[in-house]
Amino acid sequence: MTRPDDHVIVLFGATGDLARRKLIPGLFNLARAGLLPDGYRIVGSAPTRFALTDGAFREHARAAVSTFGPTVPAGPEWNAFEEALSFGAADPSQPGPLLDAVRGAERALGRGARRLFHLAVPPPAFPAVVALLGDSGLAQGSNVIIEKPFGVDLESARSLNETVHAVFDESRIFRIDHFLGKESVDNILALRLANSLFEPIWNRDHITHVQIDVPETIGLEGRAQFYEGTGAVRDMIVTHLIQVLGIVAMDPPGTLDAHRLRDEKVKVFEALRPIRPSHAIRGQYEGYRQEPGVAPDSQTETFAALRVEVDNWRWAGVPFYLRSGKRLAEHRETITLGLREPAMSMFGTGPGRPERSIANRIVIDFADPGWIGLEFLAKVPGPTMNVGRARMEFRYGDSFCRSHGLQGYERLILDAMSGDQSLFTRADGIEYIWAAGAPLLATPPPLLPYAPGTWGPQPAVDQLAAPHYWYLPERSDPSE
Ligand code: BG6
Repeated sequence: MTRPDDHVIVLFGATGDLARRKLIPGLFNLARAGLLPDGYRIVGSAPTRFALTDGAFREHARAAVSTFGPTVPAGPEWNAFEEALSFGAADPSQPGPLLDAVRGAERALGRGARRLFHLAVPPPAFPAVVALLGDSGLAQGSNVIIEKPFGVDLESARSLNETVHAVFDESRIFRIDHFLGKESVDNILALRLANSLFEPIWNRDHITHVQIDVPETIGLEGRAQFYEGTGAVRDMIVTHLIQVLGIVAMDPPGTLDAHRLRDEKVKVFEALRPIRPSHAIRGQYEGYRQEPGVAPDSQTETFAALRVEVDNWRWAGVPFYLRSGKRLAEHRETITLGLREPAMSMFGTGPGRPERSIANRIVIDFADPGWIGLEFLAKVPGPTMNVGRARMEFRYGDSFCRSHGLQGYERLILDAMSGDQSLFTRADGIEYIWAAGAPLLATPPPLLPYAPGTWGPQPAVDQLAAPHYWYLPERSDPSE
C-alpha cells in the first residue's frame, strides 16, 4: 500500500488511559511495520496541569509500549520513533505550548506536512478541544479523529455535530469506533460479498435471529471516572455493537468506496426501530459500588442486553440480540446468525444434536485473530439415519500471512491519515442511532444486580432472548 503523506499527529489525551493502552503502542507498531509516512512527528497534548516535558513524554511512551505493545521499545526502530515525539500542553486560554510544539514538528518535516488531530479525551472535553483547534487556526486543512461515545444522547450528539461542523468540514471528520478496524469485522463484508454462498441467505427468509455478543471478564481497570458517566449501553452497545450490526445488516453497497459504503450503513441505522425499555436488561455487578471512584449509590449499568429490530424488507421480524458487560464469565466477541430449520425433519437425533439446538448457524468470532464457523448436521456413522452436529471452520490464526495484521486502532489511524472515511461513522448515522436509543435512555429499565463471573442478571437475560437463547460456540445448547 502507498504510505500516507508526511504528517504531524497531535494526540490529545496523551497522558490518558486510551493513549497508554492502545494509541501510543499502536503508533509504534505502525512505525515498525513501515506504514507511517516517511516523515512523521507525534505531538502529545494534555491540559496544562498534566503538562510533560518532551523527555518525560518519551519516557511515558516507552512505558506504554513496554506494558501494552507487541514488542519491547528498543533498538533503532524505537530510537527513531522516540525521536519523533514531543509534547505541547494546551488549555483553551493557553494554547501556546501546543502551537509551539506543532510548529516545531512542522518545521522539522518541511513544507506540505498534513495535520491529524486525535481527540482521545473524555467526551465532555470534545467541544473545548474542537473550539481550541478552531480559534488557534490549527484546524485549517487538518483531519480530526473523534473518539466514542459521540454524545450521550440525540440532543448532545446533534449539538456536538454542530460544534464540530463549525470548525471542520464533514469530509475531515473521522468518528472512530475501533471495532470497525478489526480484521474479522472487516472480513464480514468479504464473507458476504466475495462469495456466492452467503449473500443469498443473508435475510429474513433464511435467518431467524442474530446475536452480537461481547461479554468481558475485565472490570473497570481504573476507568471509574469515564465509566460512571457512560455505562455499558453508551460505552459498548450504542457504539461498538450497533456499528457491528450496521456491517452485518447493511445491503451490499455496489462498490467499496466510502460514500456508497456509508450510505448503506446509515440506511440500517435509519431503519432501527426505537428501542423499547421492555426490550432491554440493565445490570450492575455486585461490588461495583465499592470500586474506587464509583458513587456508593451509582445507577450506572455494567451490563446491558438488548433486543433490536431493523425495520426493512431484508430483516423484518428478525430480532438482533446484543449483549455486553463487565466482570462476566468469559471474554467473547461473537456474531451468530441462526438459520431456519429445513421444511421437513426426516432424520433421527443422534448424539451431539440436543433437542433445543438449531441445525445451522454461521458464527463469526471477531476477537483477534478471529474465526468463522459454519454449523451443520451430518449423518452419524452407523446403521441408523441419525444426524449429529458438525462444523467447518476458518481460522485467521492458521491462514494467510499475519505479518500485516493490524489492530483496530492501527488500521483506522492509517485510514484517517489517508483520508479514507469508509470505516468511520457519519454525522447522520450517529444521530439515527441515538434517535433509536432515545426511549431506552429516557426510561431506563431497573438496574438488576449480578454476581461477578456469571452471565449477567438471570433469568431476565435469558428471557429476553426467548424463544432463542444466548449462544456460546463450544456449547451449542444451554443444557450441555
Ligand atoms: C472500549 C470500551 O471502547 O472498548 C471498553 O470503552 C472496552 O470498556 C473496550 O473494554 C473493548 O475493546 P477491545 O478492543 O479491548 O476488545
